[in-house]
Amino acid sequence: MWPFKRHARDDAALADARGRRGFLFFGGRRFVADAPYMLPKDDAELNRLDFQHYMLRYAMRGLYAPPLGQLRSALDVGCGTGRWALEMAQVFPQARIVALDLVAPPATGAPQPANFQFIEGNALKGLPFADGAFDFTHQRALLGAIPEAAWPGVARELARVTAPDGWVQLIEPAPAPQGGPGMSALAGWVQQASMRRGINTMIGSQVSEFLRQAGLQDIHTREVEIPMGGHAGRLGVMAETNYFTLFSSARNFIIAMGVTDAADYDAALAQARAELDQGHYVSPYYMAYGRKG
Ligand SMILES: C[S@@+](CC[C@H](N)C(=O)[O-])C[C@H]1O[C@@H](n2cnc3c(N)ncnc32)[C@H](O)[C@@H]1O
Repeated sequence: MWPFKRHARDDAALADARGRRGFLFFGGRRFVADAPYMLPKDDAELNRLDFQHYMLRYAMRGLYAPPLGQLRSALDVGCGTGRWALEMAQVFPQARIVALDLVAPPATGAPQPANFQFIEGNALKGLPFADGAFDFTHQRALLGAIPEAAWPGVARELARVTAPDGWVQLIEPAPAPQGGPGMSALAGWVQQASMRRGINTMIGSQVSEFLRQAGLQDIHTREVEIPMGGHAGRLGVMAETNYFTLFSSARNFIIAMGVTDAADYDAALAQARAELDQGHYVSPYYMAYGRKG
């Protein structure tokens, strides 16, 4: 069962989902069962993840930060649509690129690179790879999937499967900005829903500390503040679009958990749109990478 307190609305949603193996459905959005992960696993969310990938690649100025040299193998934990891993497979055609997630990415229709492989797995249950199997281990945006108490163990696993002299890179966001009442309400509801599953939405700033505790060396940290809104050009429009699709994605689960109701949530979304139009906000991301000694 899920490691958080059940509420009456969860039971209603579970009844609604009966018979659909592996997934739960809240108001037409599909979620993975038996995981603390709160975001949906459906086409709309996959579109958001691809969009977010392009935004982050643009904001971070590339797919990776450490000096990878002649890469022989890389692992992406919690790969989502597999976009990052597929692009790495193209950039490093000589390397074996493995993408792991609870659920396989959907087929894109395009042929997959021969050096790309998907493996189903659960990062909370240990990684199904030998010690030192990869030159580069990457994990991005799993904040909403990993309970706070599990982070040190997850980071140790990332370090374990990385080869000596190989690199581990983490990227996680800061909590959503709190502007006026609409943005604050949305951020607060996500925080409440997350806390019920032991997830701390403030954990992003600790990525370098997790790498240090996992025994990694030469740790580099970067905080990238992505501006939000049309005043900040193309990147600002992308960040604002991602903000609204993210909160739309989280909507049904938060309502199903009884954290708030649909009317209040939708009113806060509309209010947040007005607040974002009026103010200048940023969406910070924390990136850290370290070398295995
Ligand atoms: C917000 S998405 C990020 C996807 C990708 N890393 C990216 O940056 O585009 C989080 C992903 O983690 C996966 N996930 C959630 N819990 C997981 C777990 N325990 N083990 C492996 N993957 C998990 C979800 O299925 C989802 O694809």
